[in-house]
Amino acid sequence: MAVLEISDLIAAWDPGTGARQPIAVADVTGRLRAAGDHRAARIVERMPATSGVLEPESVDRLLVRVHTELQRLAEELHMAERFVELLRPMLDAARSAGFRRLRVVDIGCGIGYVIRWLATTRVLGADVELLGVDQNPVLIAEASRLALDEGLPCGFACADAFALAEDATVYISSGVLHHFPVDELGDFFRAQDRPGTAGFIHYDIAATRLAPAGAWVFHRARMRELLGRHDGVNSARRAHGDRTLVTAAGQVGTMDIFLFAPIRHTNPFCAAMRPVVGIRPELSPALRRLLGRRARALHGTDDPVPSLRAAT
Ligand SMILES: C[S@@+](CC[C@H](N)C(=O)[O-])C[C@H]1O[C@@H](n2cnc3c(N)ncnc32)[C@H](O)[C@@H]1O
Repeated sequence: MAVLEISDLIAAWDPGTGARQPIAVADVTGRLRAAGDHRAARIVERMPATSGVLEPESVDRLLVRVHTELQRLAEELHMAERFVELLRPMLDAARSAGFRRLRVVDIGCGIGYVIRWLATTRVLGADVELLGVDQNPVLIAEASRLALDEGLPCGFACADAFALAEDATVYISSGVLHHFPVDELGDFFRAQDRPGTAGFIHYDIAATRLAPAGAWVFHRARMRELLGRHDGVNSARRAHGDRTLVTAAGQVGTMDIFLFAPIRHTNPFCAAMRPVVGIRPELSPALRRLLGRRARALHGTDDPVPSLRAAT
């Protein structure tokens, strides 16, 4: 049975015109009940609606609140620092190989925490342009407002992960991969195979057996919004396995693909985040050299990591 997240169902925009589409409560609750998720249906039924259609302003305020809570989780998990660990050597490898215009694009950036953190700290260097993209214009508006408030050197734009107008030296994302079914993952990674792209770093929840229980405890302790708590647990339930991710990313065909994780990352009690990494083969040796001892955490399908070898 499908595992659904409420946030994916309560807001939609026409991909061509960008116009907001009305969302009927009955359509959402019908899908949730068909998936056996009666609790989620009850959460949606309590949301403000007019003539059976969800009130867009109320949905928007809720999603911004949930994403603000998500930012706090990202802060606790040191997500920005985790990106820097890989981004810095990847960008240095690109610089040494003669890449000139360096740009990091965060796909599905939400309210843009990682991009804003990178802009505040300038830890990647002044020559690196920072851009966050998301399909949700309200989250992009909030990200832009927060960046403007602090005068940060970064930008935000609406974009669909599968039809990116934005070129990047390195594409990144966090908590986005599980929003796509397995058969869409290949298209997601292929959309990032651009002439000027050195690689990508996509963090998502490690699909361990007890990740949903860990996510329940974590979100219960840290989130107030029922929608956030619900979606947090379902994120862990629908997270893709290591081998699924590495295989899907491998469909790009022009990059070396790794999972970056300590060898003992499979603690089943942890809803841990770990990234799938792609890099142009000619930059791989430099990345390994610059990572030093941490390069031992790069695992390809030939490595003896059980979750990469086991069928999913
Ligand atoms: C769980 S949130 C993660 C947000 C942010 N990266 C973070 O870590 O807080 C997933 C985000 O992916 C965005 N998203 C989902 N599908 C997308 C698509 N096809 N293109 C662009 N963004 C998408 C959603 O709008 C949402 O902001």
